[in-house]
Amino acid sequence: MKLTGPFTQILPLDGLPLKGALRDDQLRIIHNGGVLTDDGLIIAIGDFDVLQKAHPTAQIDEITTPQVLLPGFVDCHTHICFGGNRAKDYSMRIAGKTYLEIAKAGGGIWDTVTQTRNASEQELTETLIQRANRHLSEGVTTIEVKSGYGLSIQEELKQLRAIKAASAQTKAKLISTCLAAHMVPKDFGGSQEEYLNMVLNELLPMIKQEELSSRVDIFVEQSAINPENALTYLTKAKALGFDITVHADQFTTGGSKVAVEVGAVSADHLETSGEAEIKLLANSDTVAVALPGASLGLGMNYPPARRLLDAGACLAIASDWNPGSAPMGDLLMQAAIMSASEKLSAAEVFAGLTYRATAALKISNRGILAPGMVADMQAYPCSDYREILYYQGKMKPVNVWTADSTDF
Ligand code: NIG
Ligand code: FE
Repeated sequence: MKLTGPFTQILPLDGLPLKGALRDDQLRIIHNGGVLTDDGLIIAIGDFDVLQKAHPTAQIDEITTPQVLLPGFVDCHTHICFGGNRAKDYSMRIAGKTYLEIAKAGGGIWDTVTQTRNASEQELTETLIQRANRHLSEGVTTIEVKSGYGLSIQEELKQLRAIKAASAQTKAKLISTCLAAHMVPKDFGGSQEEYLNMVLNELLPMIKQEELSSRVDIFVEQSAINPENALTYLTKAKALGFDITVHADQFTTGGSKVAVEVGAVSADHLETSGEAEIKLLANSDTVAVALPGASLGLGMNYPPARRLLDAGACLAIASDWNPGSAPMGDLLMQAAIMSASEKLSAAEVFAGLTYRATAALKISNRGILAPGMVADMQAYPCSDYREILYYQGKMKPVNVWTADSTDF
């Protein structure tokens, strides 16, 4: 057994509601706190001196400077398994070129598909491990990773195998999602329906068989997969046993309605969601996921995070880290910057980065610090938790702990 501390403050983020607005005075703060762990799991959490007296044989992992301890962050939406980069797209975008102009010049998702197909499984695994470890060093201990840059049976399998291989070689917990329905690949010689049927009938059974993923995502957009086809596809994928998540309402609405109708675990993006969509999400069990990194990368509005919370939705915040629309990949910085515009409390930001994000991934053993939970934790070099968002993401954790195991 190991006792880590004393921390100036511990924010366990326990006892808070899953949905709706949160005030900072709802946060429980343990002063001079300690965490007792055994084999990667939290045994007890509380006053350091009390824990030390009660467990005199515990090995002490002494903290000698002022530090604030939080649960590790959970990034429930990334696309960090990819080849190449899209710096050319970005330079065109900031110079004012439109999405269509960039696509015509050979940019967009298809460019990354080409670059990802050109990378070997080994190369994808290695670059993914590097990105996961960068995230981990910034306190992100759980990372969802999507495929979606393969867009053929073999190339999607290659990506998902790379994610599985990487997950055994990083201390971050990786959770994979099949995004074969990102767009109909340009080299597929059939209709949208035919492509989705191929994914359903051929790819998803193979993913199940190889245990590569239990989650399916889709990009619902008139320019990608239309809402009608999306609903049919997702209903069938769900019947095969997959959890569903949706890229929804990014450029036009329609996706969030599909997500709620199919009982998706999350609807992500939501930049164009209006009153009707907000109401729908708030009255559902579907987690609303804000992706400020995509707004920053594309120069678009943030999703209506404040209104979603006030309407009673469960709001998570994720990075959307991808080579096209969200290349920065700094989750805390993005959340901190969005919170200033959207008027989110620190409690709402931290909840969105931890236990509310675990709801989007349907995992229940992470996201708060409490007995029985996995000891994924991070400590910031300050004595007041409010400093963390105050520095807008520039203050990074000085210590990050994970369970060191892929078994949890
Ligand atoms: O979440 N919106 C669709 N997919 C990604 C972008 C992918 C890309 O541009 O490569 C997103 O923003
Ligand atoms: Fe995305």
